[in-house]
Amino acid sequence: MSSIKKFKVFRFDPEKDKSYHFAEYEVPVVAGMTVLDGLNYIQEKFDGNLAYRSSCREGVCGSCAMHINGKYRLACEVQLAELGGLVTIRPMAHLDIIKDLYVDMTPFWQKYKAVKPYLIPGDPDPQSGERIQTQDERKNLDKVVDCILCGLCYASCAVNGYDEKYLGPAALAKANRFFMDSRDKADEERLSLVAGEHGAMRCHTMFNCQEVCPKELDPTANIANLKRNLVASQMSVKFTKKGV
Ligand code: F3S
Repeated sequence: MSSIKKFKVFRFDPEKDKSYHFAEYEVPVVAGMTVLDGLNYIQEKFDGNLAYRSSCREGVCGSCAMHINGKYRLACEVQLAELGGLVTIRPMAHLDIIKDLYVDMTPFWQKYKAVKPYLIPGDPDPQSGERIQTQDERKNLDKVVDCILCGLCYASCAVNGYDEKYLGPAALAKANRFFMDSRDKADEERLSLVAGEHGAMRCHTMFNCQEVCPKELDPTANIANLKRNLVASQMSVKFTKKGV
């Protein structure tokens, strides 16, 4: 048995349109269909020009991040059955629109790269080829290590809306991920990268990032740890590191 759902989809082609509009489509829905399946149906049956990103279809790649009925979510993870009769879809905020739901992630990646998202061990590679962590040291990274870089937290954070240089929750959480890593020895450099008016202290603890994370990670707590350590460094207090 299928039912019909109405999709209202944000459409905008900067090369042709003066402003955006919403296009409406009626999609037959069967059990198990996701919002991404609905978009695929629209693209196949009604308009092959509809632009959006997707890849894995199972919440791993983070490509299909968008705004669905008032919340930032991954389209492949939202069952149509859990939504009402109308499905309204908008692109992620704070990023330029390339076309329709397809946004330019360049600022997101620039900020991500700016925090040096890789291990800086400060000594030559060990002969064994491995840098060992204890289980507790690894567990300390649980609340941040599974980030899939979908950008939902970035879009949901209001600070990114009025400070385009703000590093944002994903980059800051990643900075803390390496700051807390027992194998990393670049504490001062890492804190200097997130200091300043567009860094961790710019976060107003709004919790939107924590609420929308599809992996149930906690960017807010990670940023709070950076804040604590920034204050400690100003007061020449020993870094606490473990705080998430
Ligand atoms: Fe934004 Fe998250 Fe901070 S939503 S203000 S980065 S707690």
